[in-house]
Amino acid sequence: MVAMVDELLRYRAEFPILERTTYLISNSLGAMPRGVYDAMKGYADTWAARGIRAWEERWWMLAAEVGDEIGGLMNAARGSVSTHQNVTTCQAVVASCFDFSGERNKVVYSDLNFPSVMYFWEAQRARGARVHMVKTDDGITVPTERLLDAIDETTLLVPVSHVIFRSAYINDARAIIEKAHRVGAHVVLDTFQSLGTLPVDVTALNVDFACGGVLKWLCGGPGVGYLYVRPDLGKKLEPKFTGWFAHQNPFGFEVGPTRYANSPFRFMNGTSHIPALEAARPGVRIIAEVGVPRIREKSKKQTARLIQLADLHGWRVNTPRDPEKRGGTVSIDMPDSEEVCRELLKREILVDWRPKAGVRMSPHFYNTDEELEIAIAAVEEILKERALASR
Ligand SMILES: Cc1ncc(COP(=O)(O)O)c(C=O)c1O
Repeated sequence: MVAMVDELLRYRAEFPILERTTYLISNSLGAMPRGVYDAMKGYADTWAARGIRAWEERWWMLAAEVGDEIGGLMNAARGSVSTHQNVTTCQAVVASCFDFSGERNKVVYSDLNFPSVMYFWEAQRARGARVHMVKTDDGITVPTERLLDAIDETTLLVPVSHVIFRSAYINDARAIIEKAHRVGAHVVLDTFQSLGTLPVDVTALNVDFACGGVLKWLCGGPGVGYLYVRPDLGKKLEPKFTGWFAHQNPFGFEVGPTRYANSPFRFMNGTSHIPALEAARPGVRIIAEVGVPRIREKSKKQTARLIQLADLHGWRVNTPRDPEKRGGTVSIDMPDSEEVCRELLKREILVDWRPKAGVRMSPHFYNTDEELEIAIAAVEEILKERALASR
């Protein structure tokens, strides 16, 4: 019999940390591609040798170029993706395009959104936003019908995660966007936990805004968030959180009202984060080369195996069992899960722990099937040792 060859494993050599650890934490920080060493050296060399000329020769356009590369992963039109420091900043840019003083000032989201995003919108109450938070029943899934019912004629914005960080539940983005558009509201889809591990097509979804960061599934490191704005909206919106990068004539240093540049610079503000943009590129390029459909296919198999192993041990799984509703993470709440996580880290098995989730394990395209068995066997051993010690 011919053994199945996992084509994607040839990329392991690109990620130094895989030689030393069992790396199952790409939902939090993707492994660093070897190419980042060269990217950082290139950055330093450019700064050292070209000095101020680097802006004109490379740096000024970098934010837009990296935006286009990220956009290529989600079928975004060229020029529709701006880059920022993080997702919270992206929310601020979007919020600054709207006015909360009128009748249409409701902001609807699920309480399973990433907390930083919720903290931002909570704070917008002071600016007139009426926040409506839809509660989860089981801590895993978003009650779609209730969320859709909450989106009404007074709703301005619906900022929701595509994939829930705690449980990896895949929100019904299509239904949410359709309902929002039917009543004249805009959706801000947070694709941080989806882009790079499951197919995202912002054009087919007809979503108004999409945002995320590159440090998890895109292996791009901290410091780069991206914001997609639907091209027709990108022509007319005027962010109030703005600055000279958004000006049509930044080097004119004009005073008075801003004459907005075209997208994507229109949605930027101050000087861009050049080192982080340089570091982001190798990871984004590898993901583009590997291709999200292949990543998704492997992810479905590996997450299914993790669930099967957790079931065999009778541990609680806080992740949907239906692969079509599940992203790239499996949250396993075994007994003493927080302590178990600490022990796993000591054994070079890199995972994390979150309240109401348990230990989150997130295999990516570079993980072997054997690594899943290693992680689960280690949990078993840790639990046995703890049971013996408590006798
Ligand atoms: C869905 C989601 N949104 C946002 C964030 C982070 O937001 P920020 O980029 O503002 O730190 C995370 C995780 O870090 C996340 O999982």
